[in-house]
Amino acid sequence: MKYQKTIKLKDGRTCCLRNAAMADGEAVLAIFMLTHEQTDFLLSYPDENTMTVEAEGQYLQKKADSKNGIEILAEVDGAAAGLAGFEPIGSKYKVCHRADFGISVDKKYWNLGIGTALLKACIQCAKEAGYEQMELNVVAGNDRAIAMYEKEGFVDGLVTEEFACFWTYKVGILTEISLLQRSVDIFQGSVDRLQPFVLLC
Ligand SMILES: CC(C)(COP(=O)(O)OP(=O)(O)OC[C@H]1O[C@@H](n2cnc3c(N)ncnc32)[C@H](O)[C@@H]1OP(=O)(O)O)[C@@H](O)C(=O)NCCC(=O)NCCS
Repeated sequence: MKYQKTIKLKDGRTCCLRNAAMADGEAVLAIFMLTHEQTDFLLSYPDENTMTVEAEGQYLQKKADSKNGIEILAEVDGAAAGLAGFEPIGSKYKVCHRADFGISVDKKYWNLGIGTALLKACIQCAKEAGYEQMELNVVAGNDRAIAMYEKEGFVDGLVTEEFACFWTYKVGILTEISLLQRSVDIFQGSVDRLQPFVLLC
C-alpha cells in the first residue's frame, strides 16, 4: 500500500509520513533497533531481531506492493522518528477482516503528535484495504500508548472465541515483571495483556 502526508508537529516542525519501501531498509532497521532498546513495551528484545538491511528492504517493498499491509515511516528533518504498520492476522476467511497493528516512536520525538498521526494514517489505510477491525496487544501499564489508543477509538475487549483460548483481557493487572521475564510464554495465556481493537466500519 502507498501513503504520503506531511503534518505539523506540536513544536512547529514538519513531519513526513510515507510508506517505507526497499530503499528504507537501513533507516527502518535502525529505528526498529533503537526503539526496542528504549522500551520494554514492545514485543521483542533488540537482539532477537535477525533481519539484515537487505531482508528488511525486501520486507518493506513487499508491503509497499501489497494491497493489505503497510509500514509507515515518520521522518523529521530527514531522520527516521517513528514507524507504524499493519498486516493481516491471516488469510483464512474467518480472520481476513482483521489487521494486526504495531507502532513505535523514537523517545526523542515523544509527545509531538507523531504517534497519533501514525495511528490515524494506519487506520485510514486499513479502512481503504477493506479491514473491519484493527487489533493490537498492549501491556497494562503502558499508559501513554493506552491513552493514545483510547483517544482514537480503540476499546479493550474480547475479539473472538478463538482468541479467548489464548488470552485473558484484564485491564491493569499485568506487572512489569511479566515483560522482563524473557522465559514467559505470552502465547500460553500466562500473561494478562490488553487486547484493544478498533472497529473500522
Ligand atoms: C506510544 C507511543 C507510540 C506514542 O507516541 P507519541 O509520538 O509520543 O504520541 P503522541 O505525541 O501522539 O501522544 C499520544 C498520546 O499519549 C498520551 N500521553 C502522552 N504522555 C502521556 C503520559 N505521560 N501518560 C499517559 N498518556 C500520555 C496523550 O493522550 C497523547 O495524546 P495528546 O497529546 O493528543 O493528548 C510512544 O510513546 C512509543 O513509541 N512508545 C514505546 C513503544 C510502544 O509502547 N508502542 C506501543 C506498543 S502497544
